[in-house]
Amino acid sequence: MSKFIIPEDRIKLKVKEIAKAIEADFAGEEVVFVGVLKGAFVFLSDLVRNIEKIDVKIDFVKVSSYGMATETSGIVRLELDTTLDLRGRNVVLVEDILDTGLTLNYLKQIMLMKQPKVLKVAVLLDKYERRIVDVDVDYVGFKVPNKFLVGYGLDAKEEYRHLPYITEV
Ligand code: IMP
Ligand code: MG
Repeated sequence: MSKFIIPEDRIKLKVKEIAKAIEADFAGEEVVFVGVLKGAFVFLSDLVRNIEKIDVKIDFVKVSSYGMATETSGIVRLELDTTLDLRGRNVVLVEDILDTGLTLNYLKQIMLMKQPKVLKVAVLLDKYERRIVDVDVDYVGFKVPNKFLVGYGLDAKEEYRHLPYITEV
């Protein structure tokens, strides 16, 4: 069987589509994009460079659950918190992949404690077959099969994040 791959040009179109949906949803307002390090750094940077019609601010959080393993430990830890004041702000949390849902479920709770005006979530990939907890997300790029994927920010033991496409290892 051939390898699962999402080529660079398909990612580019999809990211633009998501950016335009966010612009439409927040027309005339400002949005703080909060990227989840490290995996979302590529998606976030391409996403915000497609935003032309609304004001943009950028912040980051960092969580760890995997360490150097490829299986989730089930324990999510906040390693870096946002620095901007999110109270009363429109926030879009930007994550690379939704897998078991544990990470985003945890992060959504953390973000809601900051009392934003609106909290939405954008994920590039949705590995839906692996879900343990239900998480509502607002913008999804691609539904993907249950394979370990790398590239476009996603890593396997810190490798492959720089690849401009997504592929299985
Ligand atoms: P969850 O908490 O199981 O939903 O996992 C989310 C996190 O696990 C993501 O932020 C990724 O860092 C990592 N992850 C899940 N699946 C993959 C994959 O296929 N490749 C690389 N990282 C993954
Ligand atoms: Mg990772």
